[in-house]
Amino acid sequence: MSIKLSVVSQDPLRIDADVAVIGVPEGATTKEGILAKLEEALGPVVSRLVKREDFTGKKDQTLDLQTNGALPVHRVLLMGLGKATISDVEVRLLAAKGARTALGGKAESLTIALPEGVAHAARAAAEGVVLGAYRFTSFLTGDRIPKTNLARVTLTTTGRVSKADRDGAALGQKIGASVCIARDLINTPPNELYPEKLAKAAEDVAKANGLECKIFDKAQLTKRGMKLILAVGQGSARDPRLVHLTYKPAKPAKKKLVFVGKGLTFDSGGLCIKPAQGMEEMKGDMGGAANVVALMAAVAATKPNVEVHGIIGCAENMPDGNAYRPGDVFGSLDGKTVEIINTDAEGRLVLADCLAYARALEPDLILDNATLTGACVVALGPTVSGFFANREELAEQFRTSAKAAGESTWQLPLVEELREGLKSDWADIKHTADRWGGSITAALFLREFVGDRPWIHVDIAGPSLANKPYGIYPKGGTGHGVLTFLRLIEELS
Ligand code: BES
Ligand code: MN
Ligand code: ZN
Repeated sequence: MSIKLSVVSQDPLRIDADVAVIGVPEGATTKEGILAKLEEALGPVVSRLVKREDFTGKKDQTLDLQTNGALPVHRVLLMGLGKATISDVEVRLLAAKGARTALGGKAESLTIALPEGVAHAARAAAEGVVLGAYRFTSFLTGDRIPKTNLARVTLTTTGRVSKADRDGAALGQKIGASVCIARDLINTPPNELYPEKLAKAAEDVAKANGLECKIFDKAQLTKRGMKLILAVGQGSARDPRLVHLTYKPAKPAKKKLVFVGKGLTFDSGGLCIKPAQGMEEMKGDMGGAANVVALMAAVAATKPNVEVHGIIGCAENMPDGNAYRPGDVFGSLDGKTVEIINTDAEGRLVLADCLAYARALEPDLILDNATLTGACVVALGPTVSGFFANREELAEQFRTSAKAAGESTWQLPLVEELREGLKSDWADIKHTADRWGGSITAALFLREFVGDRPWIHVDIAGPSLANKPYGIYPKGGTGHGVLTFLRLIEELS
């Protein structure tokens, strides 16, 4: 259900809502400002609580007040903003935490006071509201279906509401909803979301947003020579697909950017089968593809003046009498032959054909993202993505974009010495090297398929799925990466 969102010029305490979320700068006292106003309305209980909780507006402090009929708003959630001037990212975070808390308290209406002097506060707050209010309930029945929904959100400002505020809020809501497309796809179980369905979901997004969409089925993949995607998918009863989405700006574009995503709707490991423990998480092995679909929806909303292509390789990796084996050698769209070593390193094979396809579009940038290696999670932990780039200035741009988007990422090196590990006696290249530097050798393998095109590879194996809510992310599929990619597009257009 979509939230009815508005921006008004009003005192947040005067709005009839279940919850009001108000940021409080550090150094607040009950002598002035919001705390004084609350004390006036609610009495000395405010001073008592402020004292007991030692609430002064320090970062991450919160104070939860019930107004018991003394104000039109029923509950006030004060959130410490800390000393530094607040950024877009922090506004988004405040709104997300507010929305999540409100929803947890079964609120149906929420007011968020926009902090003053933040240029894009309305957009950031709207993004945060949608991201924080996210939940996935498609497969719940009876009592498990939530009875309350966050239906109405009012953003309040002390100044007058400009058109820019209203437009910003509307855009923020669309961007938030786009990220939630990725979350929904990741959370959908693999019996429901198999390659054909993932391709269909991408097509639906294209249709709803006026994007071009091409889908290659098994016959077309065969005709085009995408032998690596076919190899990964051959052990599954569900055939693979490749989807190509295109956004073209109204005016002829100067630049062409291509985003590629790994879309393994389930990764059992194939014949090199994974341990049972945690295997269910491999329903999320299409997180990269989900991000690309979400990004394309967001791009349709932000309308940048660059051409943006989204390419997803969809397959299911299963053990079977017809499954691909260690020792097999396959050709590829690029032409190189690849010796298969470990069938659980399937993602890089699917990506290799996608990258070769992307390269043929002669783009100014190829960015791929994938839940590619456990090694990346070992290196950086579950909340940080690892990225690689074949141009230092690109790495810098990506770092800047991630920072502005508020997403955690860390650059990893393309260590040349490790390339040797991919040498094969039986084919042009093998697809895995030894254990050490597993994320790096995966990236080096991918690099073989991008030629000299500017390229960024993002390993989202950690942050794509969360085992508990944090920041703007819910438990489960997060869509981590989408906001960074969107920012990078804004940066490059
Ligand atoms: N999809 C996995 C990587 C993964 C692991 C994603 C944990 C999310 C959480 C990938 O296909 C895989 O199995 N990679 C192997 C590569 C190895 C066989 C060279 C890995 O990381 O162990
Ligand atoms: Mn695997
Ligand atoms: Zn995988």
